[in-house]
Amino acid sequence: LKNIRIAIDGPASSGKSTVAKIIAKDFEIIYLDTGAMYRAATYVALSNGLDEADFAQTINILKENPISFGASSDGQLVYVGEVDVTEAIRQPDVTNAVSGMAAIPEIREYLVDVQRVIASHGGIVMDGRDIGTVVLPDAELKIFLVASVEERAERRFKENLQKGIETELTTLQFEITERDRKDSTRKISPLKQAADAILLDTTGIGIAEVVERIETYAKEL
Ligand code: C5P
Repeated sequence: LKNIRIAIDGPASSGKSTVAKIIAKDFEIIYLDTGAMYRAATYVALSNGLDEADFAQTINILKENPISFGASSDGQLVYVGEVDVTEAIRQPDVTNAVSGMAAIPEIREYLVDVQRVIASHGGIVMDGRDIGTVVLPDAELKIFLVASVEERAERRFKENLQKGIETELTTLQFEITERDRKDSTRKISPLKQAADAILLDTTGIGIAEVVERIETYAKEL
């Protein structure tokens, strides 16, 4: 299991990162949050005042100030160059603009290259939208995590409250649906279940149970 590569894909707020982090800890493997990379790119674009039409220019800034990860007592930190963007990339302005950034071919090409380098030694669980289909098509285990939009909005609502962000539940449902629509209909690497991925519907199922199921699949390989 030390060298296993696990791909966890699925729509927004389906619990991918929560379960991926636990699995990484249990199996003592790396966790890579690929969504954080698209978010970091989006944050860079917005803070440089770029319009969506100019988002591709972000790549030049990222080459000078690469995205990297660090650890803290309460989770993973995300940096762009020397700047800690961990909290900034979770703000609603970034969340609502990220699908536009993620649809740009040059950005995906750049980030996918970085992701493959990080995964090249194995022993990794990655979550995203295109891990099983594009980034690691030969991953040993692929999971496609889904849940009802109502439940996902509810989870995001609670997460946001903990961060002190207040959002209407119906607004969240709308935003999640919109993000999934954009991510599933884009031309390049759309959100899609890989043919050999295991579909796991987590509606009404607790985190521990989801983790348990995925770890059982991994041990059975
Ligand atoms: O996983 P998270 O919700 O943080 O991802 C943010 C956004 O990044 C997604 O809505 C999607 O547009 C993009 N993304 C992607 N491919 C990935 C991971 C995330 O296009 N592998």
